[in-house]
Amino acid sequence: MPVMSAVERWFCQSPPWHWVAGPILGWALQGITPQGAVLELGGGSGAMAAETARRFPDCELTVTDVDPAMVTAAQRRLADAPRVSVRQADATQLPFADGSFDVAVSYLMLHHVVQWRQALAEVARVLRPGGTFVGYDLVATPLTEAVHWADRSPHRLISRHELRPALLEAGLHDVCVRTALGRQAMRFTASKPR
Ligand SMILES: C[S@@+](CC[C@H](N)C(=O)[O-])C[C@H]1O[C@@H](n2cnc3c(N)ncnc32)[C@H](O)[C@@H]1O
Repeated sequence: MPVMSAVERWFCQSPPWHWVAGPILGWALQGITPQGAVLELGGGSGAMAAETARRFPDCELTVTDVDPAMVTAAQRRLADAPRVSVRQADATQLPFADGSFDVAVSYLMLHHVVQWRQALAEVARVLRPGGTFVGYDLVATPLTEAVHWADRSPHRLISRHELRPALLEAGLHDVCVRTALGRQAMRFTASKPR
């Protein structure tokens, strides 16, 4: 079930994308240290997960993606990483029990989930009380819309005014949404009430 165009799939598995994962990870985490059981949604070929496993070796990291080709690529990349498991999962129907994770992360994937509000509801469900959701995504702008229109990837870009109320509606609180990169991207943090 690929949800990206061939070009995007190729790019997400390419060496340059893996090279920039290091600098992006620190920026995306916004000072949050992943601890305990960590769920990555839409982890792609494992670029961010490999860096997470390297920097935070004590985490129990579960990397998920809906696309079997990405899951295979991530399994290959992360084969030697202890405490990391990779499995296929749709972010809108997560195969995990309520309260399973201390931290959920989402890097540049929500805009590929047309039902992204359902993915937020699933994040809120699988986080334990007090758990943290953190990540970044594109903002719906003329530029990002044009890129995705040209690329033909299925997508539903999120405006910066939509994400905050949607996170609150999902049952999360302490919500912070900050735009970045000339307002083409946004970083977010939220937590599940205790
Ligand atoms: C642009 S890539 C980003 C990959 C990775 N997060 C990274 O930063 O390298 C978006 C990923 O989201 C995945 N994806 C899209 N819709 C999804 C869904 N409903 N559930 C899980 N993963 C999904 C795609 O297969 C793809 O691997």
